[in-house]
Amino acid sequence: MNSTLTQRLPLFPASTTVANDSLKVSGFDLQLLAEKHGTPLYIYDKLELDAAADKYREFLNASWPGKWSVTYAGKAFLCTGIAQWAANQGFYIDCTGRGEINIAVKAGVSKDKILAHGVNKSTEDLKSAVAYAGTIVVDNLSELKRLLSLSQAQTLPDLWLRFQPGSSVETHAYTQTGHSGSKFGMDRVQILEAVRICRENNLPLVGLHFHQGSQFRDPEPLGDGIDRALDLVQEIGFPETWHLSPGGGWGISYHEEDLPHPPIEMYVDFITSAMLEGCRKRGLTLPILHLEPGRSLVARAGVAIYQIGTVKDVGARTWVLVDGGMADNPRHALYGTRYSCLTVAHPLARPEKNVSIAGPYCESGDVLIEQVDLRNVQEGEFIAIPVSGAYHLSMSSNYNGALRPEVLLLENGEMHTLQKRETPPELTQRDVST
Ligand SMILES: Cc1ncc(COP(=O)(O)O)c(C=O)c1O
Repeated sequence: MNSTLTQRLPLFPASTTVANDSLKVSGFDLQLLAEKHGTPLYIYDKLELDAAADKYREFLNASWPGKWSVTYAGKAFLCTGIAQWAANQGFYIDCTGRGEINIAVKAGVSKDKILAHGVNKSTEDLKSAVAYAGTIVVDNLSELKRLLSLSQAQTLPDLWLRFQPGSSVETHAYTQTGHSGSKFGMDRVQILEAVRICRENNLPLVGLHFHQGSQFRDPEPLGDGIDRALDLVQEIGFPETWHLSPGGGWGISYHEEDLPHPPIEMYVDFITSAMLEGCRKRGLTLPILHLEPGRSLVARAGVAIYQIGTVKDVGARTWVLVDGGMADNPRHALYGTRYSCLTVAHPLARPEKNVSIAGPYCESGDVLIEQVDLRNVQEGEFIAIPVSGAYHLSMSSNYNGALRPEVLLLENGEMHTLQKRETPPELTQRDVST
């Protein structure tokens, strides 16, 4: 066994083993799965999903004396089966726009568990939210005014206001959202105006929301967000039963050098302590506390499996070209995320070469892994990239006519198809001939 490579195993779901010199997840040999189902293939380990959900439940029960909920951020990955999984956990689902609302509704998620988000909701999004969501997080005053007109004909669901606290968490600039000048939410003055509109028109305003960014490991900046939000709540004065959500965004390790994974307990403890102290200092009753994680629930459960098509030596660099890339995982192209991988066969064999792993698409930015040490791999072999469960498939595209991958849910030897592989005829379904 090679120690460099054993360090990569904790990036995979906890059920991952190496048996007969092949990688297994949740009792399934990935070589056989890839041969049978084709690649790129995404698998989700159900026990890993459940374990992350249990952690949120356990730590919130232990540290928050009031009511709480977890809202799964559907933007991380939403399909019917995942929406049903989240609903079975008793979680709310954060849906951005009417597309995600439709997925949740079709999955049978109850109205009270659907929370409508979005920074620039169209009137169609708002109508869908009014019809199907139990809560709407209002991002801006224009949206609130359109909701006010809709309220002439229909009763609105609960409204929370999205606050821009003026500070973000430490993360890639593209995933920071809480700072002044960000496109998300309303500053203090706009929130006070929104409160005035809600009160004058008897709109059901019951909560405040903020989200300072995604993929962070240091919870400290949340303290500032919580303080500013609670100051505002004190100024506004909410009803006895009120809701506060400090968003989601707790990080995950994508590479062995970033292990261990940031503990969910640390995140929950930080928020609940800051909230308890902040409410006590200001004499506020405790709100219903809503956490809104996406990737820390689903990222680690997902593994992407690709087949090597070509191994190409070009001067100082060896490219291992596989059958997926930025069309199913644009995260390296977007944020420079550093991933790792193992070969599916002989996963722990001594690495012989430093290679780059890229996809088949017509962009030099179509890279999955810039540099990784691997044994000499052959064309036709499979590789597995861990921590692939969040913001891959939900950000996927049909670039170069790419077909979206098949997605399987695995549980202790049982398998369920979450999504079928897209087919070439589906690519022209929306087209109209001239
Ligand atoms: C409003 C909001 N809530 C929650 C999340 C979830 O973030 P993560 O998946 O990093 O936990 C996001 C991510 O962009 C978001 O914008």
